[in-house]
Amino acid sequence: MSRKNTPGTVAAVDASALEQEALSEIESTSTRKELDEARVRYLGRKSALKQALREVRDRETGLTLNRVRERLEQAVAEREAGLERAQLERALADETVDVTLPGRTYRRGHLHPLTQIRREVEDVFLGLGYAVVDGDEVEDTWHLFDALNMPPGHVTRSPLHTLFLNGDIVLRTETSPSQIRVMERQRPPVYMVSLGRVYRRDTPDATHVPIFHQVEGLAVDRGITLADLKGTLLHLMRALFGEDRRVRFGTDFFPFTEPSLQAAVSCFICEGVGCPTCKQTGWIEMGGSGLVDPNVLVNVGYDPEEVSGFAFGLGLERIALLRHGLPDLRELWQNDLRLLRQF
Ligand code: DAH
Repeated sequence: MSRKNTPGTVAAVDASALEQEALSEIESTSTRKELDEARVRYLGRKSALKQALREVRDRETGLTLNRVRERLEQAVAEREAGLERAQLERALADETVDVTLPGRTYRRGHLHPLTQIRREVEDVFLGLGYAVVDGDEVEDTWHLFDALNMPPGHVTRSPLHTLFLNGDIVLRTETSPSQIRVMERQRPPVYMVSLGRVYRRDTPDATHVPIFHQVEGLAVDRGITLADLKGTLLHLMRALFGEDRRVRFGTDFFPFTEPSLQAAVSCFICEGVGCPTCKQTGWIEMGGSGLVDPNVLVNVGYDPEEVSGFAFGLGLERIALLRHGLPDLRELWQNDLRLLRQF
């Protein structure tokens, strides 16, 4: 081998050519893999440089080759750092978060139509100075029946109509016992409404569900008359169904009112001309009402000679059905978002 004959010169020339070649190749690598391959090629155990180093005999050649090795190692290290930096920069550019983009929108829920109506009714009566009181869904037969002038033989006391829990403990069939509880607690005057669930042993169909909601109203004071009842219901109906509504009464019977009246509101669909909603009558029945029966006042220790009162009870589902034109009461209990989202 020529290198053996003239070691210094040949090695030195080879070394500088090798260095140029290696440096340019190292610098032109664009991936870690390419750099690794270049490193193996020029600095690996089988590389020309390492072989030359093993065969070195004179000090001069050894120094030259070692300097080349050092420079190549440095070049590899620098290129490695350069590639890493480039990769980081690419990642930063690719993965930037644009904080000015609009966020993901989440659909906002809203109150169930029945809850909306419940709150509306509460607001109307709070505006009139009434107290909104909670009643109990589990009642005893005194508050649900006897105090409301329904003696033991009364038809709604049958287990066919009422859900008895235990002895005289029942699920209330109406919100009326909340009247009794308020009157037992306080002296007149009383101005209260109570809204909540009631339970009846009914089979579900388009107009019946065994659990529904009522609003109960009661006013007891000196000199309360039917005119007060009518004005109050008119105010409520106008708030719920529009300013042009009128209210009329038909006769009815409830054990706890005398006289008892069926309250009807002028049809807000046809303005009284006649349509399917009002069954061509121009009027829509809204619920029961009347002047509190003197027996009820006596049952809670009030003096019917001194005070009188009116009361009413309306179904919240009925208000929702009318307002939204729903054909079937059960819709309100199905939790079908396609329906609920509309209101
Ligand atoms: N409690 C009656 C019902 O569920 C509704 C009712 C009628 C309530 C007349 C009253 C009233 O307070 O005076 O059918």
